[in-house]
Amino acid sequence: MARKFFVGGNFKSNGTITQIKSIIEGLNQASLNPDVEVVISPPAIYLLLAKEIASNGIQVAAQNVYDKGNGAYTGEISAEQLKDAGVNWVIIGHSERRALLGESDKFVASKTKAALAGGLSVILCIGESLQERETGTTLNVVTRQLEAVADEVSDWSNIVIAYEPVWAIGTGKVATTEQAQEVHAAIRKWLKQTVSDKAAEGTRILYGGSVTDKNSKELATQPDVDGFLVGGASLKPAFADIINSAA
Ligand code: G3P
Repeated sequence: MARKFFVGGNFKSNGTITQIKSIIEGLNQASLNPDVEVVISPPAIYLLLAKEIASNGIQVAAQNVYDKGNGAYTGEISAEQLKDAGVNWVIIGHSERRALLGESDKFVASKTKAALAGGLSVILCIGESLQERETGTTLNVVTRQLEAVADEVSDWSNIVIAYEPVWAIGTGKVATTEQAQEVHAAIRKWLKQTVSDKAAEGTRILYGGSVTDKNSKELATQPDVDGFLVGGASLKPAFADIINSAA
């Protein structure tokens, strides 16, 4: 089964109305490979703006969702509200939320279940810390993070997995193609053993962590690298080159 290449742009907490408009208008004008699925994720306050102006096949994702429905949850956004706003994707479990806001594997799993139940597609982030990499526990960590979601979710057809080694995020220290391929292959093996052959074949596994237009082409050659989740470089015009790196 051919997996459609997927490139996400996680703007994190960056941008102003003017800057977000400029980034999206630049992508609207860019010559993008139509065989690549492109999803950009601005800060929540700019989601409606992004939905309104994005074209060129570009979809929009939220960077978070609450695991309950609408109600007395001050400051939170529900899957129902994102769907209502025409936002069909959501990033869940980003390492910055796990580390800075203490989001547990169980909470990430509960959010994933709620997002899928609300009709959203999920970019599920997993990845190990530098200490976990250096102590050789990477595969234990990513397996633990995936198992938590498998405890809540059986249908993985609307999940894209983003492997983002924490030590590569925002550091300029991109994983080598061998490091990325090793973990991606292990994730695919886990999907085959734990979910289904179909999930293993069909689930896109993205690499994230200091991806740029200079390293994306080589990473894209790896058989189990199905795309990228890009942070800093998604705010720059060269993001279009990353999108086209699978060409
Ligand atoms: O979600 C993508 C992000 O964590 C990667 O950030 O700036 O290293 O591309 P960056």
